[in-house]
Amino acid sequence: MSNRPSKSSVGTVAMRWHGDRLDLLDQRRLPAEEHWIVADGASAVAQCITDMVVRGAPAIGISAAYGVALAARHAGGGDWQAEIRQAIRVLAASRPTAVNLFWALKRMEQVFHSCHSLNDATDRLAVEAVRLHEEDLAANLAMAGHALDVMRPDNPIAVLTHCNTGALATGGYGTALGVIRRLHEESLLDRVYADETRPWLQGSRLTAWELTRDEIPVTLNVDGAAAAILAAGKVKWIVVGADRITANGDVANKIGTYNLAVLARHHKVGFMVVAPSSTVDMSLASGQEIPIEERDGSELLELRGMPLAPVGVPVFNPVFDVTPAGLIDAIVTEKGAVRNPDLTGMRALFT
Ligand code: MRU
Repeated sequence: MSNRPSKSSVGTVAMRWHGDRLDLLDQRRLPAEEHWIVADGASAVAQCITDMVVRGAPAIGISAAYGVALAARHAGGGDWQAEIRQAIRVLAASRPTAVNLFWALKRMEQVFHSCHSLNDATDRLAVEAVRLHEEDLAANLAMAGHALDVMRPDNPIAVLTHCNTGALATGGYGTALGVIRRLHEESLLDRVYADETRPWLQGSRLTAWELTRDEIPVTLNVDGAAAAILAAGKVKWIVVGADRITANGDVANKIGTYNLAVLARHHKVGFMVVAPSSTVDMSLASGQEIPIEERDGSELLELRGMPLAPVGVPVFNPVFDVTPAGLIDAIVTEKGAVRNPDLTGMRALFT
């Protein structure tokens, strides 16, 4: 199997690094328009993460790394170390669930601690952020190969996916969507069913957009249609990403992922989680310990100013859920696959 995508296979990037600024494609405005936001410092990057200009666990981590590099680049020259430490604190507070954010900041912090001058920090933190970005892309390419080894389809198959795990969410190829790209490149993909992904619509606004641009066959469905699609026998695998994977193999991912895992088990369809090892958090014993972000109720109450619900109705808006390891057939990372994940299998690959 080829290890690299053809250049034309990925028509999308989420961010562009310019040394003194980070340009972020404003994912809130897709697919209506491709508008780039210039982030010229760590606080601006943190605000872009909080506001979902950039989202998706790996892309959040990579942007935060560039945010630290920007903090060094623009440090005043006085107590530059205090300025960088403060930037790391601000970035760490931007979103709580995706562990890639904290993983990336830790890596940047390790480099920062070994820097002896502001010039040194400016150079080395930028190099480290670029390295982290490149490593994520390489990890995406490797995990796609491992995933196909697990699936081993003889004929083109249909898959169902949730949220957006593509170039927009990563260093450039995608995790679950990278697997889908690879199936397509190997002529083993019949079709992708893309869950709309309420309430933020990552599936319809981002996944369907990415796949359409790259001419990969996609059919959009409301989240509630997944059971009917599976019941019709149309799908062989459900393939999703992850925001945090704990030591026992539990997986936090976009709200609605757990529903899909239950459906997959009922319909005897494979359920695969694809993520870089930077998403694995061996310090947490189980998914119950993962902080689950809840976002503003307005995401359910209105759509671009139009009311969708009666004024004042209480809203519960957790944006991630936890799928128990027992419902997962394989967790695939760049290091390989853990089949039927549990503590033993996870430890074998990640310690
Ligand atoms: O709220 P989001 O859009 O950041 O949530 C994204 C997801 O849940 C993705 O599935 C996950 O981060 C994996 S992205 C490769």
